[in-house]
Amino acid sequence: MTTLRTPTLVIDNIGILVTNDPTLGEGPLGIVRDASVVIENGNPGTGAHASVSPTVIAVGPSGAVADEHIDAAGACVLPGFVDSHTHLVFAGDRAEEFTARMAGQPYDGGGIRVTTDATRRSSTGELDRLVRRRLAEAHRAGTTTIEIKSGYGLNIADEARSLQVAEQFTTETTFLGAHLLPAEYEGRSDEYIDLVCGEMLDASKAHAKWVDAFCEVGAFDEDECRAVLDAGREAGLGLRLHGNQLGMGPGVQLAVECGCASVDHCTHLSNADIEALAGSDTVATLLPAADFSTKQPYIDARRLIDAGATVAIASNCNPGSSYTTSMSFCIAIAVREMNMTIDEAIQAVTIGGAAALRRSDIGRLTPGSAGHVVILDAPSYHHLAYRPGVPLIRETIGPLGGF
Ligand code: NIG
Repeated sequence: MTTLRTPTLVIDNIGILVTNDPTLGEGPLGIVRDASVVIENGNPGTGAHASVSPTVIAVGPSGAVADEHIDAAGACVLPGFVDSHTHLVFAGDRAEEFTARMAGQPYDGGGIRVTTDATRRSSTGELDRLVRRRLAEAHRAGTTTIEIKSGYGLNIADEARSLQVAEQFTTETTFLGAHLLPAEYEGRSDEYIDLVCGEMLDASKAHAKWVDAFCEVGAFDEDECRAVLDAGREAGLGLRLHGNQLGMGPGVQLAVECGCASVDHCTHLSNADIEALAGSDTVATLLPAADFSTKQPYIDARRLIDAGATVAIASNCNPGSSYTTSMSFCIAIAVREMNMTIDEAIQAVTIGGAAALRRSDIGRLTPGSAGHVVILDAPSYHHLAYRPGVPLIRETIGPLGGF
């Protein structure tokens, strides 16, 4: 009788393996040298909706044996990046807005309406094609888990449609009907928030895991965002919030008060905001590429880390404030401009992102965790900051592939 057995893959001859498990190796990154990782169902490029999910079954010294074999040839291996903040469902192009900004125009989020017009006009097939392309780009750059928000539909049908597109690719989908007041509701913010909390949420909730709102001058105020978060919670969704992007504001305090999994941007933080984050389990998600593309000042992440807050870094890929899928680029900025050590930045794009999604199965390479792996074309993860702009991802193993 033949016994059916799931196929295994070994990545062998790893120079530096980042496990993110201090019980397995050196320091907070749990580094193991001259290592191997064995993964079950570890076919490279497994699609997000494949019936099997790759799982780490062993971490140990070089020389392990499995059905398939990848020779890392002394390179560094990391957990796949967890990108916990993106807006991938959009059509259109805002390169002109970016160019104007580089010439001195400030960013105020108003361009969201430009993308909303283009997204509403797009067919579902076209949106699907655009998201697949962006996911393939993200996967090549090392991302194996991605959160995708709606927020460029801003009416019942187009918000639900954006989430239906997103849910084909990830379970981490976020309803962001409260991204900006659409033009047809100008002067009627109250009515729009009622719509978001009512019919729009009803149409979207089956396709979303999270609810989010943009708490900022020019977008939605504290009470409006609280109403959206309360309605989302009532509908069974997890909570996240955009806050403190363009100036000081109530976003961080509101996120902590409501028990959000994450408050994203955190570019302008008071000492009280930092204390609130440090005393909570709300993750501070930093978006360095957005600050780069909008010419915002960079937050000193040391203030957060030294206070004890949990920090994540995400790409915020969107057509307005941050048109990149590159987590390596974000690492380089965080290290150069935000006062993070390279080790802290690596944690922030892996277990930090996982914490922002309240996940413990990803962002680490430890027996039982997801077998989502990045093999670098470099001897150490330091090269991700040391060699900015250079494509150092040799191979990405795990979901998001195959599109
Ligand atoms: O996270 N801040 C709000 N939303 C996006 C930007 C959207 C846009 O400009 O299109 C962000 O930066």
